[in-house]
Parts: sequence; structure tokens; C-alpha cells
Amino acid sequence: MLLYSDFSLTELNTFNLEAKAELYAEISDKSDIESFVRKRKYLEMPRIVLGNGSNIVFSSKSFKGVVLKNSIKGIEVLEENEEQIVVKVASGEDFDSFVEYCVKKRFNGLENLSGIPGSIGGSVVQNIGAYGVEIKDYVQEVEYYDFTDFCFKKINASDCKFAYRDSVFKSVMKDTFITAVTLRLYKKFQPVLGYGNLMERISGINVLTPMILRKVILGIRFEKIPDYKQYGSAGSFFKNPEITKSASEKLLQQFPMLKTYETEDGKKLKLAAGQLIDLCGFKNIVEDDKVTVAKTNALIMINLGGATGKDIVNFAKKIQKSVKDKFGIKLEPEVVIC
Ligand code: EPU
Repeated sequence: MLLYSDFSLTELNTFNLEAKAELYAEISDKSDIESFVRKRKYLEMPRIVLGNGSNIVFSSKSFKGVVLKNSIKGIEVLEENEEQIVVKVASGEDFDSFVEYCVKKRFNGLENLSGIPGSIGGSVVQNIGAYGVEIKDYVQEVEYYDFTDFCFKKINASDCKFAYRDSVFKSVMKDTFITAVTLRLYKKFQPVLGYGNLMERISGINVLTPMILRKVILGIRFEKIPDYKQYGSAGSFFKNPEITKSASEKLLQQFPMLKTYETEDGKKLKLAAGQLIDLCGFKNIVEDDKVTVAKTNALIMINLGGATGKDIVNFAKKIQKSVKDKFGIKLEPEVVIC
């Protein structure tokens, strides 16, 4: 394992933000983590694990600390019978390539998560979700290295405290390096079609297969989510805020056009952050020719070219203030700002 100083991260974040890491190491194998921790002096420095850089904002041009880039690869089928497949995937694998692999092999369940940029490790930290499915629905176990006591461990999905874009790896188990994720997938194809107008989109299709569903999902994403290869972005910038049902009554009296969705436990309502930002007029605001939100979805902030992390963070603050002033709602970032 090689350590680099002043290493450029510009190509390693989908926002295309110019940034350098004080120290950088590529982790291609579990043994690389052990080699890194043997260099005790580096353990004192702040540390982040970088997957595909698709959900991160480097707020400064220089990250003062160590960036450990996750490049651990490998897919292994652990169990297979007529009904299920248990598959272990290394955390540095590209998330969508894994989804495509599963769809092709008819390891069913992940179709609705097609097209999400990111790594397998990041998908678990964030409990990524789209079109009515979250990765937590299929995770069985997560393997990780714990920097607090320097050893490899495993945790059952039931202990991962998965919630909307949240897991234990964002809080109490932040100081870890996820190495592999074990998922249980299914031979029987049971499409999840309840989200938005998904049902409508497949209505003309005679025989729905996992691959066709993947293509439909990729089509919807293509229409709504700009390609980060064209304009730097990190997908949804904020989480969709949750409010109590009683708070929603007052809000909906004032703004009857607001879309609401029940949370999974049915106790609260979720608002569409994209709609709130849209209604504040941000689709028509471009900051210094550098930052704006996507015309197709105001929840996605885009770097038109040359924006710095600071520009992104300042624009985010502007959005938060505007949404707070108009609706009394606090937007929380979905991206990781470091
Ligand atoms: N809307 C507007 N104006 C906008 C954007 C959205 O009115 O500018 C409305 C839409 O018409 C729709 C509602 O808001 O009725 C929700 O929009 P959409 O279905 O596009 O979903 P979203 O809330 O913007 C969430 C996830 C996405 C995920 C989609 C589909 C979060 C933070 N984002 O977006 O995830 O792909 O649902 O399930 O939960 C990501 O996490 O990076 C991400 C892209």
C-alpha cells in the first residue's frame, strides 16, 4: 500500500470539486487496512473513507487528513437454492455494476435501485433507496474494520439501525471501514411498482422482466437526474423532510399543492424537498454562473463548471434559508460535507 501526499481528489468526486488530500492511500485489500494502521502516526489525523465520491462535498480545496480510497473488489455467491441466493460483495465494487450483474443473473430484488452512482460500501452507510426500495431490504450482514479497537468485525443487518438515508455507520460506528456486504436476493421476481407513476410507465409492457424493469428505472432517472459526467452533482442534495401529521395540517392549509408521503412506520409525513426548493424559485437562480439546481429536479444541485466546495455550501445555505423562511421547514443535507 502506497501513501501519497497532496493527492488530487478532483477526479474522485462526482461534483467535480477541486480538492487535494493531505494524505491518500488506496485500499485494494483488507491487508492494506492493516498496513495503514501499523503506521500509527497517521492514525492521529482526521480520516475519511472514500467510495465512488458520489455523495460528498469537499468544502475546502485541501482536506487536512487522510483519505482512504476503497478499491476492494470481488463478488462471491455463498449460497444458492431454488428460492434464494446469498451473495457477498466487496465494498469497493461499483453499486450499479453489481445491480446489473444481479439483474443479468436473475438474482432479483435490486432492480429499482438501478442507475444509482456509488460504491457498495457507500450504499450501506447511506441506506440508499429509490422507487420504493432501500438496500436495507436485502442486506444480511456487513463486514468492517473497526478503527476504535483495530480489528475486523461483522454486524447483522438488524443491528445496523437502518433508517431513511441513515445507518449506524453514520453515527456510533462512523470510525470504521466497510469491507464487504452480504445480501439475500430472490429467484422469484416480485417487482415493486408502487412508487409515483411507475405502474403507469410499465402499463404497455406485456411481460415484465427484471431487465425491462431496470431499463424503465434507468429511463426515469435519465429524465429526472442529470448525468454527473455532464454537470457535476451528487444526486439529491437534501433529505426529504419528515413532519408530524398535525404540523402538516397547518402547512397544507397554507400550501395545498405540497406533496406528502407517509413514512414507512405511518407515523409521520414526508415532504418532497425538491418541490419546496422548486417553489422557492431556485430553478431560475444561477449563482455566479457556477451553481444552480437541475431544471428537472430542484433537489439536485449542479456545478456548471468552476464551482468550489465553498460555492456549493453557500448555495445550500441560501436554499435552506429560503425554504425555512417560506415553509418553516429545516432541510438537512443528504450529502456528506467534509
Ligand atoms: N418535485 C417537484 N419539483 C422538483 C422536484 C420534485 O415538484 O423540482 C416533486 C415531484 O413531482 C414528485 C416529488 O417532488 O412528486 C418527489 O420527486 P421524485 O420522485 O423525483 O423524488 P425525490 O424526492 O426528488 C427521492 C430520492 C432520490 C430517488 C427518488 C426516487 C431522497 C433525498 N431522494 O428523490 O434519491 O432517486 O426519490 O425514489 O430521498 C439520492 O438519494 O441521491 C436520490 C437521487
